[in-house]
Amino acid sequence: MNTKVIAGNWKMNNLQADTTATLTQLIPLVADATATVIVCVPYTNLATALQVVKGTNVHVGAQNCHWAEKGAFTGEIAPSMLKEMGVEYVIVGHSERRTYFGETNQTVLARTKAALNAGLKPIVCIGETLEQRNGGTMEQVLTEQIQQGFAEITAEQMANVIVAYEPVWAIGTGVTATNEQANDAIAFCRSVFESMYGSDTAASLCIQYGGSMNDKNAKELLSMPHIDGGLVGGASLVAEKFATIVNAIK
Ligand code: 13P
Repeated sequence: MNTKVIAGNWKMNNLQADTTATLTQLIPLVADATATVIVCVPYTNLATALQVVKGTNVHVGAQNCHWAEKGAFTGEIAPSMLKEMGVEYVIVGHSERRTYFGETNQTVLARTKAALNAGLKPIVCIGETLEQRNGGTMEQVLTEQIQQGFAEITAEQMANVIVAYEPVWAIGTGVTATNEQANDAIAFCRSVFESMYGSDTAASLCIQYGGSMNDKNAKELLSMPHIDGGLVGGASLVAEKFATIVNAIK
């Protein structure tokens, strides 16, 4: 069985004092976790977060990285800059980046490759909109996101990749996918990965669910056979709630 991974995506929230306070509160609450625990914080909070979690089982991630090693990309952050700080994980291709910042499957692939090359573990996000689900194109959209977004990633590299299935309609809406909807969609994604990488790689790939996961619904979602963890937005900002989600896996 895969080790389950619970990652918090703080998005554009929390100043330094909030970062220290939230993580200081979180650390003892998740000290006995069997899941891998990650918090993905804004760039400006990475140094603080790394300092606070030092020596604990809480890992730190960023929320994006650029595809180039360095160069004239004003405002961007290279994977090596994150790696140098001690950052271990990075979210790539979140639906908010696809929607508001023009990310495509091709830029997601480029960022994922760059992250892997720098020794970071990318958490690559995929997921359909409500329109796509209701219009019957969900499977096609997920297939394209996977086939294009992972086109040049090798089976060997996949051992360092986490995938987050986040249906766009469930993000920040309070509408969670049902346990079956989430499990079925992840099972489908796994079958696409299997067609690309074979059954061993697909079976050991960690595929998280994300979208209004909270302290109330996490246990049931996380008990579904294909759901290997969670990528948690809003609820990850509150230490007790995030800890309850982490500790739902025992
Ligand atoms: P919410 O948990 O706030 O719905 O956000 C999910 C998400 O986008 C995590 O990346």
